[in-house]
Amino acid sequence: MANQNLTNAKKAKNDEFYTQFPDIQKEVESYLEYDPNAFKGKVVYSNCDDPFESNFFRYFVLNFKRLGLKRLIATSYKPSPVANTQLALFGDDVTLRPVKGRPKIVANKFIINEVGDVDGDGSFTLEDIAKQLRTNKNNEWTPLEGDGDFRSDECVELLKQSDIIVTNPPFSLFREYIMQLFEYSKQFLIIGNMGSVLYKEIFPFVRDNKIWLGNGFHAGNAYFATPNTRDYATGVYDQKTGLVKFRNCIWVTNIDHGKRHQPIALMTMAENLKFNRKMQGKIVYDHYDNYDAIEIPFTNAIPSNYDGIMGVPVSFLDKYSPEQFEIMGMCENEDLYKLKTKFYTSAECKQAYLDKFGKKGVYDLNASGVLIRNGLREKVYQRILIKHKKK
Ligand SMILES: C[S@@+](CC[C@H](N)C(=O)[O-])C[C@H]1O[C@@H](n2cnc3c(N)ncnc32)[C@H](O)[C@@H]1O
Repeated sequence: MANQNLTNAKKAKNDEFYTQFPDIQKEVESYLEYDPNAFKGKVVYSNCDDPFESNFFRYFVLNFKRLGLKRLIATSYKPSPVANTQLALFGDDVTLRPVKGRPKIVANKFIINEVGDVDGDGSFTLEDIAKQLRTNKNNEWTPLEGDGDFRSDECVELLKQSDIIVTNPPFSLFREYIMQLFEYSKQFLIIGNMGSVLYKEIFPFVRDNKIWLGNGFHAGNAYFATPNTRDYATGVYDQKTGLVKFRNCIWVTNIDHGKRHQPIALMTMAENLKFNRKMQGKIVYDHYDNYDAIEIPFTNAIPSNYDGIMGVPVSFLDKYSPEQFEIMGMCENEDLYKLKTKFYTSAECKQAYLDKFGKKGVYDLNASGVLIRNGLREKVYQRILIKHKKK
């Protein structure tokens, strides 16, 4: 249900999901644990972020000094339904206005070069930032010329001046969004869903260790605030918290962190067949009919002593360590990774459908790994093809 919700959101181009502060904090802190200087002297840019709404802006502004940031930039998007409607940054004090005035609905650019306790109350808060912005002292709050689209010339210009891009971009534009980051060779930490790193344009970057999954959301579940409460089925949108739950949400990054260097603890093939509850009833690992690889239905069933290629669930990526495994490709219908040993004819796809479902149809065998079970050709779920790294 939750996954269906994400698909619907994509279709409807409903991109208004706001990331929670603790999720951002937990993720960024995991990079700092690995390298305390990961953000030091860097220009961080959140380019899908209305500072009135965005916890990315909030987190980075409140931790500006601790992280040692050089600058923080945020740009908002004019068509956003919450553009200029929220006043979280400024509390209820609607009298606060930037010096040059603030047109009604515009996309804005915020540049923070300095933070500090300007009101002298001994602590640094967003109120201090509000005061600095009001007087434009060392910091900047100006309307953008255009609508704040991350692809617009003025936003690309800001992107070029930045070192690390950190945000939750619109789900519906993820592919374009990440391709732009590659184009400008930026470091980034962004939110996506597991399916998005499997896009054929993006997966080669995963295979080549140019991007990887971040530390992650708790148990893979992410909860976002949304202004569009009516569009969500009960059970997904929680009236009490005002949050929508998505499964399979991930952080995608090219910044190093500790978790990706921790190897998975593995048993041998014989031990798995004997002791792994998930392999119960099996006497051997299945071999695909169309790849020279064995089927591994659960990541924890990867054997420690198989030298060939193994097809593993997509969730493996969350545990992938480049020191332990090599990613060879994935099962897909174009044979982009030159790993297929067989293509099925359309007659075979029709026959496989008839055999399996007892009626006419086409079973798209070429789209995945295929096993022969009880004489029938069966597709397995989406699989990543991996090998143990040679020592
Ligand atoms: C998933 S929401 C996340 C908002 C915010 N980054 C956060 O995490 O709380 C994506 C945001 O991108 C904005 N957006 C949609 N299309 C955009 C575009 N072409 N350029 C920039 N921002 C866009 C939406 O208005 C929305 O606020």
